Amino acid sequence: MAIIAPSLLSADFLNLQKDCDMLNASEADWFHLDVMDGRFVPNISFGFPVIERVCKATKKVCDVHLMIEEPGNYAEAFQKAGANNLTVHYEACPHLHRNLQQIKSLGMKAGVALNPHTPVHLLSDILHDIDIVLLMSVNPGFGGQQFIPYTIDKIVALKQMIADKKLNTLIEIDGGVTLDNAAAILSAGADVLVAGNTVFKSDDPSGTIAALKKL
Ligand code: DX5
Ligand code: ZN
Repeated sequence: MAIIAPSLLSADFLNLQKDCDMLNASEADWFHLDVMDGRFVPNISFGFPVIERVCKATKKVCDVHLMIEEPGNYAEAFQKAGANNLTVHYEACPHLHRNLQQIKSLGMKAGVALNPHTPVHLLSDILHDIDIVLLMSVNPGFGGQQFIPYTIDKIVALKQMIADKKLNTLIEIDGGVTLDNAAAILSAGADVLVAGNTVFKSDDPSGTIAALKKL
C-alpha cells in the first residue's frame, strides 16, 4: 500500500490548524513540508516557525523537502523543529555523502531529491546510504504543475537499481500526482506519493487521500 504524503504547500495558510486536523484524521501517512530559499528554486515558501508548529500539531511523519542551497547549515535546526525525514537535493550538495551522514547522525531518515533532468544512475554508488529517493516529477518551486511523463521510466530504472542492490530505499514521487496518474506511478514502482493540489483543491480532501490510499 502506498504512503500518502499531502503537501502543505497547497494548504490554507490562514487556517493551517484546520488543515492539520483534517490530515490527522485522514488516512495520510506523512505531512510533506516544502522549504524553498529563493536561490535553489525561484520561489520562497515557509521556514522554521511554521514547520515547528505543524510538526507539533501532528503525530504523523514530518517529511521535510529542502529546496535550498547549503542544506547542511540547517539540518540540526530542522531536526529541532521536528522533522522526521530530511530530503536534500542532489544538485545542491557537492558533498552529498557528508550531508547524508549528518542527517542520519541527527536521528532523521535521509532523503535525496533529483530534479527532472538528473539521471537516477548518478546515485548508484551512494544508494545504500539513502533512505528515500525523491524524484521530482515537475520542476521544483511551485505546486499545481503537470506531471512530466518520462518520470515513469526513471521510477522503473531506480526500482531496478534498488532491487539489484537488495536495498529497502523508498521511492517518493513529487509533483503533478493526480487520481488519474497515481496508479501508473505506483505500478512503475513508487512507494510514496506526494500530492498538493490534488488533495487541497479537491472538494473532499480526506476522501481524495482515501482514494489515493486505495490504489
Ligand atoms: C514542488 C514541491 C511539491 C509541490 C507538489 O516544488 O516540491 O511538493 O507541493 O504540488 P502538486 O502536487 O500540486 O504538484
Ligand atoms: Zn516537495
